[in-house]
Parts: sequence; structure tokens; C-alpha cells
Amino acid sequence: MIQLYWKNATDNVVGEEHGVSELELQQLAPRLCQANRAIQEQIDAGRLGYAALPTHRGYAAQVKALVANHKPTTTDLVVLGIGGSALGNIALQAALNPATYNLMSDARRPGPRLFVLDNVDPALVADTLKVAGRRGCKGLLVNVISKSGETAETASEFMIFREMLKKKLGSDFASHIVATTDTAKGTLHDIAAADGYDMLAVPGDVGGRFSVLSPVGLFSAAMCGIDIDELLTGAAEMKDRIAAADCMDPACRLAGIKYIATIAKGKCMHVMMPYSDRLYMLADWYRQLWAESLGKQADRAGNDVFTGPTPIKALGATDQHSQVQLYREGPNDKLTVFLEVKKHPRDVRVPDDFADVPGLAYLRGAKLSRLLNAEKVATEYALAVSHRPSVTIRFDEITPRSVGEFIFLYEYVTSLMGELFDIDAYNQPAVELGKQATFALMGRAGYDDMATKIKPFTRIDKKFLS
Ligand code: PA5
Repeated sequence: MIQLYWKNATDNVVGEEHGVSELELQQLAPRLCQANRAIQEQIDAGRLGYAALPTHRGYAAQVKALVANHKPTTTDLVVLGIGGSALGNIALQAALNPATYNLMSDARRPGPRLFVLDNVDPALVADTLKVAGRRGCKGLLVNVISKSGETAETASEFMIFREMLKKKLGSDFASHIVATTDTAKGTLHDIAAADGYDMLAVPGDVGGRFSVLSPVGLFSAAMCGIDIDELLTGAAEMKDRIAAADCMDPACRLAGIKYIATIAKGKCMHVMMPYSDRLYMLADWYRQLWAESLGKQADRAGNDVFTGPTPIKALGATDQHSQVQLYREGPNDKLTVFLEVKKHPRDVRVPDDFADVPGLAYLRGAKLSRLLNAEKVATEYALAVSHRPSVTIRFDEITPRSVGEFIFLYEYVTSLMGELFDIDAYNQPAVELGKQATFALMGRAGYDDMATKIKPFTRIDKKFLS
């Protein structure tokens, strides 16, 4: 079970000006409970797509069937996707497999090597083509993930990989592609149907950033040996725990603290700082979830509100030597959420050496887990001394189950924040303009007006070049 520890966000620890008081939480409770009820009603009515995923065993079964087909012949899995179609895959792999996973021999790895291409950086793509194209692509499987099926980054990568597979494998190329997309319609759906790829669903009622527990995130995880049943069980347990709670713990309390910190204490920077490399990519996943869901110009009535706390990721202990100077002495505008692990997946002991060197002797025989967790407490303390609030999410262990719990908790907290801010947490209208401008710049038909508007930006004005 993951647990929330919030003492260091309270006024008792960091002072009235910066900490959340019990009275403030009590005053918010009616709104919080109302928000919680609204979400529970949406879940009961089947109107909150992501909340149905933990118990949707149909998707898990489809994923497992495809894994059974492909895993025996796959040595390299390349996932093509961006944003919500990639960040969950990266986070699951980083949390639940060793960082050295791709370096293991084919015989020792619990699944194929995994490459998630979530950018069109040409060097990244070229380098990946080279390593993934080994052995004439015989062991290569490409999982192209796109809900819309027309995202420029994913579409271009798909065309590149499809061409390589066709060149090297001839008519057999289609059996080396799995398309995760809308199963009824869309550009990628139509190509997949015509070429004859295996297909998995991106559920229509689940937005990209909420889709990690759908086939979007489950397929690469299961291919790489992650127990997706346990992942879903953890998420389902968190869902039940939230539903059974008296409208407070843990989701409502976390949302309440975050909301009061933002609105009443000026903490509009929300840092997530895992003290675990394995959990760092979950902070990246959170960054998208928080930013796209809560960064909104208008509330649900259409009034301009320009709301949205800025999500920031940091890594303990690494960023103690980079960011903590700012977090302690810079503007007091941050709420830090630490992720702490009681029992790390592996441990290492410092040797019993240098007994006569005062500056090193204290480290003799210490486990690195003890050092890392001591550094977390030290940072928590240092922030508190500077009146900087923090909360901690404690993981007993990093397992598929605890990661599933964390994912559902954060998705739910995002929904609660959306209710409290009175915004639509499930759309992302501001992303559209950049997409359309890219289409125009790349010459897509039908974007002539946009091409005219963007033209001034394509010329360098030498007056401003120095
Ligand atoms: O969360 C979102 O909706 C976005 O980040 C999308 O996942 C991202 O833009 C990719 O879209 P698509 O899956 O349609 O290619």
C-alpha cells in the first residue's frame, strides 16, 4: 500500500503563511466532498473512461493474447508514440525493470529490448533504426500508438519504420507491426486494416494522458515481463480505497492540500521529487497529466481563469546538488511532493574501508538505501526550516501493484483538482494551434490560411539577430 504523509505541509511545521491548517482543510471539506461525489457519480454512470480501466479485464486479455503471439519471436520492441501515447510506457518500464534492461543479453532479459520513440529528433530515430534493424528485422516488432492516428511525429516515424520493415521482410512486414489506435475509424485504423496488422484499442472515452492502464501502456509492459494483472489490481485497490474513504484519504486530502497551497499560499509550482531513479519517469508522466489537465484559460462556464499549477520534476538526491538551493532560498512558491521507497528493489553496501579517514568513516558499512532515504529526510527538514511545505508519498516497495496504486491515485487527484478549479480536466485545446501550424509549415492540404498567418515567423528579421 502506498501512503500519504502530509505533516510537513501543515502550518504547525512551516508556519501559517505557507502551511495548510486543519481549519482550512475543514473549510474546504464541503467543496472537496462535493467534488468527490461528482467524480464518484461519473464513475458509477460509466462516464469517466479511465476509472473503468483497472477492472477492464477484456483489455488485459487482448494484450496477453498478442503478447503470447509476438513475444517468442521478438528481440526488439520499438514503441512509436508521443505524449500520452508514450509517457506511460516509459514510466512503467523505468519503474518496474532495471535501468540496465536493454543491456542484458537476449537470453537473460525478461522480454525484448524496448525503445520508446517519443520524439522526432532525427539523430535519435536514425540511431534507433540502426540498432532495431539488426538481424534483418526478424526479431523487430513495432508498436505504433496513436489515438487520432494523424499525429505528425508518430505518423512520420511509423512511415519510416514501415518502410524499413517492408524492405527487409517483404510481404511478411505486416506481422511485425501492432497498431494501438481507435478500433473503429481513423487514418491509422484504416492503414492497419488494409495492411493487416494486429490491433489494440485506445478506448474512445479515455484521453491520452489517462490511458496508461489501457492497451496503450499495457502492451509494452507485458511484452517486457511486467505483471499487468498486478498493476491493474493495484489501481483497482486504490480506486476502492478512495471510494470507501470518508471523503478524505488519501486522494481528497492530497487534492485539498494542493488546492489550498495553490490558491491561498501562493504555491503554484508543484514539484514531484522521487528519491528513486526508478520512479523518476513517473514524475515525467505526472508532469503531462498535471499540465495538460489543469492548465486552462477558461472555467466550465467560459470565464477566463488562466489556471494551472506548474508541474516540475526533480530527482533526489541528484537535484539536491542542482535545484534545492533555489527551492530553499528562491521564491517560496513551491509545494514539493516527495516519493520515498522503504525497500528498494536492490541494495548495495559501502565497504568497511577508510576507518581512519574522518570525512569518510561514517559511510563504512552503510547501505545506499539508508543514505538515499537519509538524504530525503534531510531535504524535507531543510525545506521545512525555510518554511517550504512538502508532502511524501511512501512506497513500501516498487512493485506493479504499488505503481498501479500510484497511477490511479494521481489520475483521481487530477480529476479532483479539475472539479475544484471548475475546469474541464480532460481536454487540451491549447495544443491544437501548434499542431495546425506544423501541418501548415509541412504543406498539408487545407491549411493555407494558417500558412499565411505563420509566414512572418518563418523569416528571420535580421534587426533582431545579434
Ligand atoms: O494526452 C493527450 O491527449 C496527448 O498527449 C496525446 O496523447 C498526444 O498528443 C498524442 O496523440 P495521439 O495518441 O492522438 O497520437
